[in-house]
Amino acid sequence: MAQAAPAAGRGYDVERLRADFPNLRRRVNGRTLVYLDSANTSHTPDQVVAAMGRHHRRHTSNVGRSVNTLGLEATAAYEEARSRVAAFAGGGPSGEVVFAKNSTEAINLVAHAFGTSGADGFDDPRLRLGPGDEVLVTEMEHHSNLVPWQLLTRRTGATLRWIPLTEDGRLDLSDLDRLLNERTKLVSFVHVSNILGTVNPVEPIVRRAREVGALVMLDASQSVPHMPVDLAALGVDLAAFTGHKMCGPTGIGVLWGRRELLRAMPPFLGGGSMIDAVSMTGATYAPPPARFEAGTPPIVQAVGLGTAADYLSAAGMDAVRDHGRDLTERALAGLSEIPGLRLFGPAGAESRGGLVSFALDGIGHDDAGKVLDAEGVQVRVGRHCATPVCTRYGVPSMIRASFHLYTTAEEIDALVAAVRKVRHVLG
Ligand code: ALA
Repeated sequence: MAQAAPAAGRGYDVERLRADFPNLRRRVNGRTLVYLDSANTSHTPDQVVAAMGRHHRRHTSNVGRSVNTLGLEATAAYEEARSRVAAFAGGGPSGEVVFAKNSTEAINLVAHAFGTSGADGFDDPRLRLGPGDEVLVTEMEHHSNLVPWQLLTRRTGATLRWIPLTEDGRLDLSDLDRLLNERTKLVSFVHVSNILGTVNPVEPIVRRAREVGALVMLDASQSVPHMPVDLAALGVDLAAFTGHKMCGPTGIGVLWGRRELLRAMPPFLGGGSMIDAVSMTGATYAPPPARFEAGTPPIVQAVGLGTAADYLSAAGMDAVRDHGRDLTERALAGLSEIPGLRLFGPAGAESRGGLVSFALDGIGHDDAGKVLDAEGVQVRVGRHCATPVCTRYGVPSMIRASFHLYTTAEEIDALVAAVRKVRHVLG
């Protein structure tokens, strides 16, 4: 198995890390690449690419089905990847990692379980949802943690509620006891906002959920890749995150859940591997995680994700978080000096992840994005799959610069200079 070897050591050695990411040495539009779109998709270090290549070249086979040597090797690699990912996210002995396609699929899997409980012998009262029941989200959710609950509550007659936002991009928890009440079956909320950067407090929401008997799901897509996360210690019941934001490949994500709860959940997709016994009239199902991994799973992607988890661990997640904060602080300071630029999210870097979003008065953001791209600066422009957040703050779109463990202070300065140029050229 490939071992990541960034060894950031006591001082955070970003240049040493960058040597592992060949893409970062690219040029675009005749300029040095300044990649500031990692909240969208992170880059992949050589160690991850190599591990996937090795697996393809030596161990290609299906998992969980064959007793031939290659099949056993592939199964061992796949299950080892599961253990590494669980260890990385603090899964704990009572938790289980289910591999899915991405965070979106993981969340939809859970929404499906709520929507179909009562069928096929699965009838856990915690998962029953109908008129009078409530699901609680927040106003800062990515569409992937909003639309599945809209679909579910419409289908079941339940009610969707949300925790509103403050002016400075935090959750307004002043009315939490009313919003999270005895009717709430599930609260599902984002740990770190992909658009505001806010790191949300988990503890008060989990505490209140426990008081009223609601389950808690955490969208950890933007936290697990950037800070130490111990899902078991956070006390949530379920969580979702994805490979391609944590230096792993696309095509694989994770549903983490408390094993006892996963066992109570009905299957999502039907097919091979997820069954216990099948006849022409029905089937019984395997225990988790197999129950939720119908068909041939993303085997080589799992190997890549396991290696990515090792890579991030070796860099040190405390150091990665601190590096992200330093970059955010620098970006907030530099951007706040540009006239007509409005920043969103909390004012200080200490309660933020590694990203900044802003709007430019009087300038079309698509045009701004083109100017930034011409400067080699890759940002995301748009609604960031979080349209209600743009609506809340009265802007049609935002420009977002997002960082990762390989982002440098010089790149932040390049961003600030390029945004000044946008102001000059288009303003
Ligand atoms: N969730 C990804 C983003 O925020 C796609 O850009």
